[in-house]
Amino acid sequence: MDLNLNLNVNGRPERFAARPNELLVERLRDGLGLTGTKVGCDTGTCGTCVVRLDGRSVKSCLILTAAAAGSEVATIEGVAERGGELTGLQEALRQEHGTQCGFCTPGMVMALGELVENTAGGEPPTEPEIREWLTGNLCRCTGYHSVVRGVQRACAPAPAEAAGTAAAGAPGREG
Ligand code: FES
Ligand code: FES
Repeated sequence: MDLNLNLNVNGRPERFAARPNELLVERLRDGLGLTGTKVGCDTGTCGTCVVRLDGRSVKSCLILTAAAAGSEVATIEGVAERGGELTGLQEALRQEHGTQCGFCTPGMVMALGELVENTAGGEPPTEPEIREWLTGNLCRCTGYHSVVRGVQRACAPAPAEAAGTAAAGAPGREG
């Protein structure tokens, strides 16, 4: 028997009936038409299906819709609803050529967005920390170097902030 569930997706309340074994990625793509979330493996390996669930990046092919009921879900479509303006992370990935075919990119942006937010205003993540964060997201195209550079660019202090740091004599950070 179907379950009556609700989610808040990209700021919109959604009510629907779902099979008990329905996966969150199925609800997003097939039920709500949010096909920006990709399915690369369906087994929790590739990370193309990553969305944010109550702020945390999760693989939506591993979560039952029923388990997510009542939660806030953010997908790449929600990130895009900015009048065409890219987020700092998206712009940094673009500038560093951190995307090629683009299939992995929605999952990357959703996963890395959490890392960028978590470190905002503090120490930028180190390269090993970025690579560790990326272990759940597979990319066949970029070789990851450009993705790492994109995250470093996104997390780099703003010029005025960096100048202030240098004036204070604190060690700087190369981007
Ligand atoms: S489709 Fe979910 S991890 Fe690959
Ligand atoms: S850009 Fe092609 S799979 Fe990552």
